[in-house]
Amino acid sequence: MVDLSVEIAGVKFKNPIVVGSATPTMNARMMKRGIDGGAGAVIAKSLFGEAGKLGRQFPRPRFKLFDYREYPGYPEKLPHAFTLRSLEECSSYDYDTYMKDINTAKEMVGDTGVVIASLSGSSVEEWVTMCQMVNETKADWVELNNSCPFAADMGVKMGSGAVDMTYQVVKACKEALKKPFSVKITPQTNDPVALAKQVEQAGANAVNMSARLSGTMIDIETARPVPFGAIGGWGGPYLIGYGLKMVGTAAKELKIPIIAGLGVWEWQDIVRYIMAGATLVQSGVGIILQGYKISQKWQNQMSMWMEAKGYQSISDIKGLALPNMVKTSEVPRKPANIGMAIDTQKCTCCGVCLKSCFYDAITLTKIGAVINPNACDVCGLCAEVCPTYAPQLFYK
Ligand SMILES: Cc1cc2nc3c(=O)[nH]c(=O)nc-3n(C[C@H](O)[C@H](O)[C@H](O)COP(=O)(O)O)c2cc1C
Ligand code: SF4
Ligand code: SF4
Repeated sequence: MVDLSVEIAGVKFKNPIVVGSATPTMNARMMKRGIDGGAGAVIAKSLFGEAGKLGRQFPRPRFKLFDYREYPGYPEKLPHAFTLRSLEECSSYDYDTYMKDINTAKEMVGDTGVVIASLSGSSVEEWVTMCQMVNETKADWVELNNSCPFAADMGVKMGSGAVDMTYQVVKACKEALKKPFSVKITPQTNDPVALAKQVEQAGANAVNMSARLSGTMIDIETARPVPFGAIGGWGGPYLIGYGLKMVGTAAKELKIPIIAGLGVWEWQDIVRYIMAGATLVQSGVGIILQGYKISQKWQNQMSMWMEAKGYQSISDIKGLALPNMVKTSEVPRKPANIGMAIDTQKCTCCGVCLKSCFYDAITLTKIGAVINPNACDVCGLCAEVCPTYAPQLFYK
């Protein structure tokens, strides 16, 4: 039997799956559904300080999906490369209602899951006030959300617009808080790992590196962004590469645990993040579009795979990929003993690969495409674009 439990700062998580702070955690009833759906923890929708209270009223509509239901086979089959654009800033609750809701969530969830309160202030005073209030709640854990892209766009020094205050804020909150806490940092800075190190130095128990990017989309007929004018959260499963890079590079330098989770869409993504060094893995878009029960499905699939591979616990796979994640300068340069050849039995002479061979190494013949080994640079692109997998890498 595989043991998926993990422990951070004395808090036990029955599994590493976390429902991220977003629509699915907007109130106690939803958080309970998140835990019942199989997750080990839920992070409540963030409470903004009073300076950002405009964000408690969501613009409507606030969601737009690009390249989603157009996917062939939808809804039985779901795409991997789509974008969910959203503008949903913070919890609609004021301070008192938020704290009461956290208590209700913990009372409903009991020992079946970890309830995490999420705070986002705009001044050290505001952060400390919220920390003092959350100390009095039944929250198991607190997250300091210094990642939100919207608050700064509202003209409030918060989230991704307050990166320069990170160390000072975390230090002040560390002194004020009586509970274990993580700090959620923005990926929208040129060095998220340096930011994560500041969080560690200031005394956080963990760093959350799962915040989304922001972006916009222009409708060329109306010359307007859709569906709202301002920037919005921008992301989807295709962003996992960026998330894995951040987590892998941070895991090599940090001692504190990492909460990961940009672009989680299937159980393999959870394994990927853990192999890159994460301890907990959260999902936002994955749960928003696949429902709460996807956590249980991911967990079952992950357990079956781990059992088949002989892995018994999360620690068996944690950081497993790290030694293989090397610096660019360490990647082997063109070895002399490899080449590319086309299996003419598979080639349909469609000509697709010709457009992408910038070395003019491919010729279409009556028997299929043929590669000139003297011109081929073994860049690998023909093998990636060919619809019939005809080009194949070989070792001499
Ligand atoms: C609609 C929506 C609302 C979100 N609201 C919050 C929030 O209030 N606080 C926060 O810390 N993160 C928020 N996030 C970010 C998620 O908690 C999470 O970090 C992110 O969505 C993870 O990436 P994924 O959606 O690709 O799984 C939100 C994300 C979405 C999609
Ligand atoms: S591997 Fe690159 S250079 Fe060689 S034939 Fe294919 S596309 Fe051309
Ligand atoms: S893309 Fe594939 S099938 Fe088409 S010509 Fe090239 S090798 Fe042949």
